[in-house]
Amino acid sequence: MLTVHSIKELQNAKKNHQGTIGFVPTMGALHEGHLSLIRQAREENEIVIVSIFVNPTQFLEGEDLESYPRREKADYKICELAGVDILFMPTIDDIYERDELKIMAPARGGYVLEGTKRPEHFDGMLQVVMKLLNLSSANKAYFGKKDAQQLALITQMVRNYFIPCEIIACEIIRGERGLALSSRNAYLSQEEKERALLISASLKLATQTVLSGEINCNTIKNKMQELLQEKTDIEYIALVNRDFHSIQTVELGNTMILVAVWVGETRLIDNIWI
Ligand code: PAJ
Repeated sequence: MLTVHSIKELQNAKKNHQGTIGFVPTMGALHEGHLSLIRQAREENEIVIVSIFVNPTQFLEGEDLESYPRREKADYKICELAGVDILFMPTIDDIYERDELKIMAPARGGYVLEGTKRPEHFDGMLQVVMKLLNLSSANKAYFGKKDAQQLALITQMVRNYFIPCEIIACEIIRGERGLALSSRNAYLSQEEKERALLISASLKLATQTVLSGEINCNTIKNKMQELLQEKTDIEYIALVNRDFHSIQTVELGNTMILVAVWVGETRLIDNIWI
């Protein structure tokens, strides 16, 4: 595995390989969730590129940019063992100029749910993903359903800007007891981890409720709220269709249930597609 930092090094490294490129962009502190994307990329492509870049433009004032977990050595080992060909770890100056052309999330899909709570987060995320997709020249790029709205916006950006890259949606990886893996889980104390289990439990409850025949979104939402509010601070519970329009009744095969809660000082998101 070759680790490259500058863009020039990346371009040179790519010249030494031939074949289709699978790309997994990350912000590091890699876990089994990231690894599942890397494994799928490894299976489906001749060359696998992983990037680690804690992108400042997608963090808002007062968010955890400074304290975001950084584990370069462990990340390196994980990538090496997973058979990554090129690990790209650029600096902020490699990626950004001072006065940049901006990319804006679409008016509707970009400013609901995560976009309401974190305005401009998606603009910065799309900006860096556009750059990384171009730099990697990837044929396929892999993203987790864990960040469902991110995935939908990237898919739209690729479509709207005719970027020649296929976006692959990957399943959410969870810990044994259901907590969706996230680099931010590192912030949780043992007691908070217990409380955070309510998130996946509430999504499970929602699924069971639907399977028992209840399709009224308000009823489902209320049940989830009752469970979640015991031990978390709810930011939102939303039932939407695959286009992120809110819905009144569940339509199987076209519904997502999304949750954002605070457990102590940590904001966690999760979702389920039914
Ligand atoms: P990061 O949070 O590091 O996540 C990188 C990728 O891993 C994303 O596509 C995310 O959805 C996926 N992922 C995270 N946890 C997962 C889990 N439990 N199961 C499956 N996939 C999971 O998302 C970002 O970084 C950034 O916004 C980025 C796209 C790299 C742009 O800066």
